[in-house]
Amino acid sequence: MNKDLKAHWEKVYQTKSFEELSWFQEKPETSIQFFEKLNLPKTDSIIDMGSGESRFVDYLLDKGYEHITLVDISEEALSKTKARLGEKGKSVKYIIADAGTFKAIEKYDFWHDRATFHFLTEITEIEHYTQNICRSLNAGAHFLIGTFAEGGPKKCSGLEITQYSADDLSEVFARCLTQKKSNKVNHTTSDGTVQKFTFCLFKYDG
Ligand SMILES: C[S@@+](CC[C@H](N)C(=O)[O-])C[C@H]1O[C@@H](n2cnc3c(N)ncnc32)[C@H](O)[C@@H]1O
Repeated sequence: MNKDLKAHWEKVYQTKSFEELSWFQEKPETSIQFFEKLNLPKTDSIIDMGSGESRFVDYLLDKGYEHITLVDISEEALSKTKARLGEKGKSVKYIIADAGTFKAIEKYDFWHDRATFHFLTEITEIEHYTQNICRSLNAGAHFLIGTFAEGGPKKCSGLEITQYSADDLSEVFARCLTQKKSNKVNHTTSDGTVQKFTFCLFKYDG
C-alpha cells in the first residue's frame, strides 16, 4: 500500500463532504443504465473498486443485491459509507486496499470501477490490476469501467490520471475481456465544469 497515496485520500474524505467533491453524483445514472440492461441475478457477487462514497451501492441494495464488496484505499470513505447505509448495508463487505496491489480472494460476477483505474499511472500497477481482474471474475462476468476521456481532465484531486478512449481500454484489458459497449459521457461537477468520461462494458472471456 502506498502510504502517501492513502494519506492523500484519507484527508480528502476527512475534510470534504461528498457533495463538495468533483466526482459527486446524487445518482450514478450511467453505471445504473449499463447495469440494469444486464438483468443480473440478485445472488451475483458485485465489487465496486474505489467506491469512495458512491451511491451505486445504495442502488444495488435497493434492488435486492446481497453480495456486495466495496474496496477503497481510504478507510474514511468506507467508514462514511458504512455509517450512511446503517442497517440496510449490514451484508456489505468493506476492504481497505490499493487497487494497484490488491489481490481479490473471492470471485465476482460484476466488477465496477468509476474514476479509480485512471489514477493508476505506473505500468506495474496497471498490469497488476488487469491480472487481478482476470483472476477474479466468474465465467460470464461483466466489468464496467468509467475513466476520464481524451479532452477530459488531466488531473483529479491534484493527482495525475491517464485518459482513455474505448479502444485504449480494449487494449489494456485484452488479456481476458471483450468490449461489448461503450459510451462517451459528460459529467458536470458541482461547480458546473464538464468532464469527459469514457464508459465501457466488458465481458469476461474465461
Ligand atoms: C474520483 S473518486 C471516485 C469514487 C467513486 N467511484 C465514485 O464514483 O464516486 C476515486 C476513488 O478511488 C479511490 N482510490 C484512488 N486511488 C486508489 C487506489 N490506488 N486504490 C483504491 N482506491 C483508490 C479514492 O479514495 C476515491 O474514493
